[in-house]
Amino acid sequence: MSEVSVSTNISGIELKSCLYNASGPLCTTVEHLNDLGLSHSAAILSKSSTLKEHKGNPSPRYFENELGSINSMGLPNKGYLYYDSLASSLLKYEKPYFVSVSGFSLEENLCIIKKLNENKEVTAIELNLSCPNVPGKPQTGYDFQQVKLVLEEVFKINKKTLGVKLPPYFDLIHFYSMADILNEYPLSFVTCINSIGNGLVIDVETESVVIKPKNGFGGIGGDYIKPTALANVRKFRELLKKEISVIGCGGIKTGMDAFEHILCGADAVQIGTQFMREGINCFERIESELKELMQSKGYKTLNEFKGNIKLIH
Ligand code: DHB
Repeated sequence: MSEVSVSTNISGIELKSCLYNASGPLCTTVEHLNDLGLSHSAAILSKSSTLKEHKGNPSPRYFENELGSINSMGLPNKGYLYYDSLASSLLKYEKPYFVSVSGFSLEENLCIIKKLNENKEVTAIELNLSCPNVPGKPQTGYDFQQVKLVLEEVFKINKKTLGVKLPPYFDLIHFYSMADILNEYPLSFVTCINSIGNGLVIDVETESVVIKPKNGFGGIGGDYIKPTALANVRKFRELLKKEISVIGCGGIKTGMDAFEHILCGADAVQIGTQFMREGINCFERIESELKELMQSKGYKTLNEFKGNIKLIH
């Protein structure tokens, strides 16, 4: 198997494998980030950060079943200065360090991005345009004019490798409109998708919702969302200029799931719900399953099948 490689790069950032963590689970504290450093995760991606430390929504705020997860964490995080200051101590792991940014306003985002730009030890920024869990705040990614305004202002100040995390889209016109906007900016990558926002999971025995915030509404992850994730990866790969890498996220728990994302055009993939469930061992397991699948198909590199999904004529 040693001749099979799952290395990749995201707009010039080299990754030893195509698998790393999604922002959200187990990436909030220094302990979490060190665990990711020691693991087979190809990069370390932080929890979405805000200007100030934030406790998030009341518990219970995360629930999983065999099909996936629902969460309404509400952005619990240590504040961006914490993730900024940890960068130097994470260098020893010799893997890229991405900081996720999800300020409560455009001004917050600009302030955070400005500061992170001064830190050479932060490899890249993932600007989150899709948090569904702040009561009273819409997901930026569904307000197309706002996305344009945000990117216009961000790229006045940003010189760093920067990508955006998008919510899922469900209508072709939305893919076209969003891709037209994204293609106007020097984005390095687009991550598809965040959780499907404002789902509802119910416990029949207790006849109750399973999380407390927003009367039980929260972002859905896991198996539930893989087909939506694949469609978003596939469509954005088709529509975005080639300089923008596409990172797949949604429903990856096996090597086969990762293979499907790459077949749809993903340059790398992130693991969320399954990482929360299984812990850091998921990266090594999924990597070896992916390599085994590639081996059985005669592929030695990701480029031999990336984006090559076949259609029925
Ligand atoms: C949270 C959830 C998200 O889906 C996200 O993108 C950012 C933050 C949260 O609830 O903490």
